[in-house]
Amino acid sequence: MRHLVIALTACVLAVGGAEDLEWWQRTVLYQVYPRSFKDSDGDGMGDLQGIIEKMDHIKDAGADAFWMSPIFTSPGVDSGYDISNYTEIDPMFGTMEDFEDLIYKANELDLKVLLDLVPNHVSNESEWFVKSVQRIEPYTNYFVWADPKYDENGTRLPPNNWLSYFGGSAWEWREERQQYYLHQFVVQQPDLNYRYKPVAEEIKGVMRFWLDKGVHGFRVDAVSCLYEDRRLRDEPPSGQNGTAPDQEGSLSHVYTHNQPGNYELIHQWREVVDEYTRQDGVARILITEGDSGLNYTFKYYGPKTRPGAHLNFNLFLFQVLYKDADAFAYNETINTWLEHKPDHCWPNWLVGNHDNARVATRAGQALVDAVNAVLLWLPGTAITYNGEEIGMNNTHVSWNQTVDPPGRRAGPQNYSSFSRDPERTPFQWDNSTSAGFSSSNDTWLPVNSNYKQLNLQQQQEASESHYKVYKQLVAERKSKTLQKGKTIAEAVTKEVFALVRELDGEDTYILAVNLGNETTRTDLTASIPSLPTSAAVVVASVGSGFIRGEILNTTEISIPSKGFVGLKGSPMKSHSASFSSSPSSSESWKALFFFFKRWDSAPTVTRCADGHACTES
Ligand code: GLC
Ligand code: MG
Repeated sequence: MRHLVIALTACVLAVGGAEDLEWWQRTVLYQVYPRSFKDSDGDGMGDLQGIIEKMDHIKDAGADAFWMSPIFTSPGVDSGYDISNYTEIDPMFGTMEDFEDLIYKANELDLKVLLDLVPNHVSNESEWFVKSVQRIEPYTNYFVWADPKYDENGTRLPPNNWLSYFGGSAWEWREERQQYYLHQFVVQQPDLNYRYKPVAEEIKGVMRFWLDKGVHGFRVDAVSCLYEDRRLRDEPPSGQNGTAPDQEGSLSHVYTHNQPGNYELIHQWREVVDEYTRQDGVARILITEGDSGLNYTFKYYGPKTRPGAHLNFNLFLFQVLYKDADAFAYNETINTWLEHKPDHCWPNWLVGNHDNARVATRAGQALVDAVNAVLLWLPGTAITYNGEEIGMNNTHVSWNQTVDPPGRRAGPQNYSSFSRDPERTPFQWDNSTSAGFSSSNDTWLPVNSNYKQLNLQQQQEASESHYKVYKQLVAERKSKTLQKGKTIAEAVTKEVFALVRELDGEDTYILAVNLGNETTRTDLTASIPSLPTSAAVVVASVGSGFIRGEILNTTEISIPSKGFVGLKGSPMKSHSASFSSSPSSSESWKALFFFFKRWDSAPTVTRCADGHACTES
């Protein structure tokens, strides 16, 4: 019912003013997963020289900036998110010189580089932690240490019921120190203690180190988890059905997530990047991976007067990435986020990352083009995970090949519901050995067996392909309308989702997606009367039969199942609705944290729960 009500409301939202936009507002931001991008030395593992070798591709795809998952020294327990030295390049990826070469090449191509800053935790092998265990100053209080509790039999227990994101208690005992330490992620990732002020200063030093090397900012990892309740109170049960008691989803994270100190810390780090921005006028930015549920997501941007992140990742589109999502789901998901967004927060959208199953696997190969179209024509910054521009699929990874900690912990029967390895397999460049990723057949994760048919080179040469569609969609983003125009998102019917972007005196962009299982003929003007009645095709999904330049009548468009067509027409006739937002019950929007591993079914997906699964009812 709720879908229907919202579907009937056309939402017209303005983005930005007439002022020129910053690079990070205009850009497509590309995510490079360094382990799997390109292996230059044949050891089966991606590296910095590999990224340099293939950097032209990022430019060719139309991105102006890219961020890289961690490349720093790490034992690699959580694929590099367990860092033992923040200012050293892991030898597996190369040297500091290689990094400098990478920045040099990026500058040549006019690409901005962002690094992954992981401030919530370090590796248990870091000097900081090793010394903290021994109470060697200044590190004694760098981590969240707590005394045990004892039950009536005198058995030692952790200080409270908090759970790790990857399952089990979030506390680990250290005999040497006779205390427990907190780890919101794996045991090998001790949480830093931000109540001890020097820790935040350390991170500022790390930021300056890399900013001085020429990076343009950071993607900041897991910021929801920075602070925890000072009194270490037990968390209440979440009431979420079907969650095992040792899974973090069984608790409501009122004392370990989104604590007030998090926002203040991000503001302090914002001041560091702003120092650099002021020096030469080129923006250095922070993109946080904070809770993306409506209750918290905009808090990570900070208030206008005390800014935090430039962008906080918006995971809302993940909610519609399932096979039978209809136009009402798209409409509600997109409009809900836009309606709640305060004016000073710049929009951003993503449909893939290294923590979630790939679009082709979740939503189906047939919908790859349409999903990229929605992503790239929505207002604001679009973020593409490497491989999504060619519609890569999740790869089958056997139990023996599984390396991801949540997968390993789940065991041989259940690992596939938890492991993030399937979306992290090597990039498929061409049809040569290991898809052109490596000269070795023995790669750190297996190459998808479909690589002979599905690879970049094939898609560059084919007359039509996901990649060509992607590039055309990005090319149109240079238009004023797509950069600054207002947005109308509408469920025209249950099957047809329309996204319209319009700007005074400029071309109108119209995207129509058929989410249904059959070809459908639709009248877009029935729900958006102010549309121009004819418009020219600028881009369409593979196999849809539309011809670029062809003029269509917007009152009568026939779109094949799962296909889309993107049109350009004359400026809109003045439309009545000027949207004023009236946020609905935001309480009902739970946390959306980093991963939505499940993709097979999602009937109640718009009310997705926090954490791993997307199956709450
Ligand atoms: C973020 C990363 C994820 C990692 C976690 C712990 O969510 O995206 O890959 O496991 O933080 O650092
Ligand atoms: Mg923390």
